[in-house]
Amino acid sequence: MNEENLSVTYLLDWYLTAGVDETLGDEPFVAEKTVVETAPKIAPKLPPKPQTTESDERKAITELAQATIDACKNARELCSNAQSIDELRTLVENFDGCALKLTANKTVFGGGNTNAKIMFIGEAPGADEDRMGVPFVGRSGNLLDKIITAAGMKRDEVYITNVLPWRPPGNRTPTTSEVAICLPFLKRQIELVNPEILVLLGGSAANALLENEESISKMRGKWMEYKTSKGKVIPVMATFHPAYLLRNVGQKAKIWVDFLRLKKKILEVIH
Ligand code: URA
Repeated sequence: MNEENLSVTYLLDWYLTAGVDETLGDEPFVAEKTVVETAPKIAPKLPPKPQTTESDERKAITELAQATIDACKNARELCSNAQSIDELRTLVENFDGCALKLTANKTVFGGGNTNAKIMFIGEAPGADEDRMGVPFVGRSGNLLDKIITAAGMKRDEVYITNVLPWRPPGNRTPTTSEVAICLPFLKRQIELVNPEILVLLGGSAANALLENEESISKMRGKWMEYKTSKGKVIPVMATFHPAYLLRNVGQKAKIWVDFLRLKKKILEVIH
């Protein structure tokens, strides 16, 4: 690789690490050309990496674990004060305990009918949701809308949210600590919306809320239970995430089977 290519690679890597994985503009432009023209000619020389000892690493891990514990505690305390969805939304928007907020454009809180009987929960906002501040508005959202409609419901009748209100950079899988920090907000959202049925979209959402490590293929389509901190037991079903179905079209029939079970449950529990 010549020096110019190295500079471009360095710069693109830097952007990706910071969570910038797409370009936006009002006018179309040739991205490579723009980047090449503005890229520094020579990759900046980085200072030599300081040597870390085992005890430095242990200290860093302990500090990180403590920071996560503190952030979870803080999130739980804040949540217990929220008496309405609007109050909770404001608390989430002002919460600084999760580093994902630093790389996200918008806080993507739940949306839809706050008195809904059915609540859908995904993993985390994607690029479109991060840009618009609304859950499930991109390609996955379009497919989810179609499935909801096909199952006889309307999007504005249900409530839709995510485990995480901020997009992980480059759509990476959220870490255990990010999930743990954001979970109290999701749990309080469930209590405040007070649905009769929960539908978990994808393995990450199911593992987070049901606090297990089971694969989505094993869990999907079965009725399980989620108990709120107030003791209410809510029937919950996990199914495939719409993004997975967009990549694996052959699996679409399975989500349809799951939604037929959901329709049956709606008749039993709600009507
Ligand atoms: N995927 C999710 O899990 N949530 C969204 O809001 C969009 C895509």
